Amino acid sequence: MKGIILAGGKATRLRPLTLITSKQLLPVYNKPMIFYPLFTLLRAGIREILIIISPEYAGHFMRLLGSGKQFNAKFTYEIQEYPRGLADAFIIGEDFIDNGNVAMILGDNIFADDLSQDIKNFIKGGMVFAKYVNDPERYGVVDFDANGRALSIEEKPKNPKSNYCVTGLYVYDQQVIEIAKNLKPSARGELEITDINNFYLQKGQLEVKVIKNNWFDAGTFDSLLKASNWVAENQSLWEEFQS
Ligand code: DAU
Repeated sequence: MKGIILAGGKATRLRPLTLITSKQLLPVYNKPMIFYPLFTLLRAGIREILIIISPEYAGHFMRLLGSGKQFNAKFTYEIQEYPRGLADAFIIGEDFIDNGNVAMILGDNIFADDLSQDIKNFIKGGMVFAKYVNDPERYGVVDFDANGRALSIEEKPKNPKSNYCVTGLYVYDQQVIEIAKNLKPSARGELEITDINNFYLQKGQLEVKVIKNNWFDAGTFDSLLKASNWVAENQSLWEEFQS
């Protein structure tokens, strides 16, 4: 299994902080934000990781993360010229993925859960992780039938059908490249990851696992602050990565 960290975008919501560096390099308590999604992949035994970044601060990422040797991993970098959408990661990453399975994580997502076993046990199709939230309209929203089977996924719906959001960790088989290449931009002009998930869902190939522990999308001032406080209080979760 290979890994992708998507860490591009303009992060206008975090200005003026993001006028001088990238969102994913901002501190979450005592580490740069991108370390947390990186740890999620490393914990699952993923050692070959493509990091997709925007052109503005590419040098900052390389200076921080380098070749990956210090993490016992191998990092590759690709530039995303402009934010075409999350699904663009699989078009940019086509050669890197090389017909294998891939786990893509957003550079601003912080998971308390150890998802290693789920990732290691993945064989084919798609797998996403859902979390109960109070503000589902901010996210991709999945609703379930009485047996817990996913029925639909909608991107930022005005009237969410449930409180379960799709978090920013996506595991797919090699079909994802062709699916991404055939997507049409949405009304907001992006290649939507939700369209990829719906493709797998309609084929009966999407597994949706509910996560129980804390999860943060640290892309706003409030969530960044909450994430920092939570990380400060839960340092033991990252113990294996302290050096
Ligand atoms: O955090 C989970 C949510 O992430 C999901 O529930 C949604 O379905 C999914 O669309 C996404 O929603 P966001 O509104 O959080 O997406 P955002 O545009 O903020 O992008 C997420 C991260 O990906 C962000 O850190 C920047 C990066 N990004 C985004 C785009 C659109 C890129 O690197 N390139 C891009 O083209």
